[in-house]
Amino acid sequence: MPDHLLLRAAFRQPVERTPVWMMRQAGRYLPEYRAVRAKADFLTMCKTPALAAEVSLQPLDLIGVDAVIFFSDILTMLEPMGLELVFEQGGGPRFPDPIDGPEDIERLHVIDPADGLAFVGDALALCRKEIDGRVPLLGFSGAPFTLATYAIEGCTGKGFNKVKHWYYREPKTLATLLEKLARQVTTYLNYQIASGAQAVQLFDTWAGTLSREDYRAIAAPFTRQVIDGLHRDGVPVIVYINGGDHLIDEMATLGADVLSLDWRTDIGAVKQRHGHTHALQGNLDPCALYGTEERIRQEVQRILDAAGPTGHIFNLGHGIHPDVAPENARAMVTAVKELSAQG
Ligand code: CP3
Repeated sequence: MPDHLLLRAAFRQPVERTPVWMMRQAGRYLPEYRAVRAKADFLTMCKTPALAAEVSLQPLDLIGVDAVIFFSDILTMLEPMGLELVFEQGGGPRFPDPIDGPEDIERLHVIDPADGLAFVGDALALCRKEIDGRVPLLGFSGAPFTLATYAIEGCTGKGFNKVKHWYYREPKTLATLLEKLARQVTTYLNYQIASGAQAVQLFDTWAGTLSREDYRAIAAPFTRQVIDGLHRDGVPVIVYINGGDHLIDEMATLGADVLSLDWRTDIGAVKQRHGHTHALQGNLDPCALYGTEERIRQEVQRILDAAGPTGHIFNLGHGIHPDVAPENARAMVTAVKELSAQG
């Protein structure tokens, strides 16, 4: 029986209070993160286990969250597969030479993470050591569809027209790419679990741009393939979609333990519909952290009331914004701890 609050909540077991963490909690809203980042570029931080572990643990000590997510990005996995990745100052991630056709898929290799992504295993092992049992360590990956959008568009897409072009003209080619990514994500997450990750989250951030029917056709089967292939004994699997309100019934068929909801979704309604089979994660609007302490507490209370005392991991509905004051993040975490313990 797992004893960490977050693991118990993920398996819908009784908890003394609701556990809380934040997507992108190791990030630019923290001056301590910016100080490390001033000395190293983003990819160097990802690839230097001591730096990655340092920033991963910052929110544990500074904000008081109930989980550590190791510092990296969903896109670093694609680089050793054969896609050059650059993070431009202020501009976000970019693949200068994206996948443009079937022959490009050939040049993508499913690699052994212990070779090409050993810095991830080293960072996870270091995090586990430094956390020293206080909270669980989370691993993560992009889901195949979201990774494919970056591999094909080369950057964060708007309408994802290139991906949809493939979908409508060459669905088999798109499926070949997604299947390859699914195999890589599976080995990558199993490697993270073997390296110390105690729960894993699949980010399918951009799947919300798909209709329900298209999600069922192009995204869900490959996410399901990943989840089916995980060595998940005691390791809960969390799935997240941004703008995925219309896909929640589909998410519930993937075999995950936890459904992570964005802020537009009525968490109480999902609790009624899926709460007997899934734990829920979320779903405060990241912008609520611009509010006063009193307003933040109100919003926290509203979500706690709707989600109930068990089977809930409190989180934001998307990553924390870089211009949020750290004391507001702390106020949210404190509010979750105090208000959920009062029942
Ligand atoms: O949650 C955490 O604290 C762990 C680390 C983490 C990062 N990115 C660090 C990061 C995780 C889990 C991610 C996931 C990620 N990355 C997603 C899925 C979740 C989501 O937010 O939708 C996506 C789509 C990406 C791709 C990505 N990485 C984008 C679009 C950007 C640029 C936009 C931005 O926020 O700057 C990044 C950069 C990035 N990833 C930063 C961090 C801390 C900022 C880089 C910097 O310090 O300059």
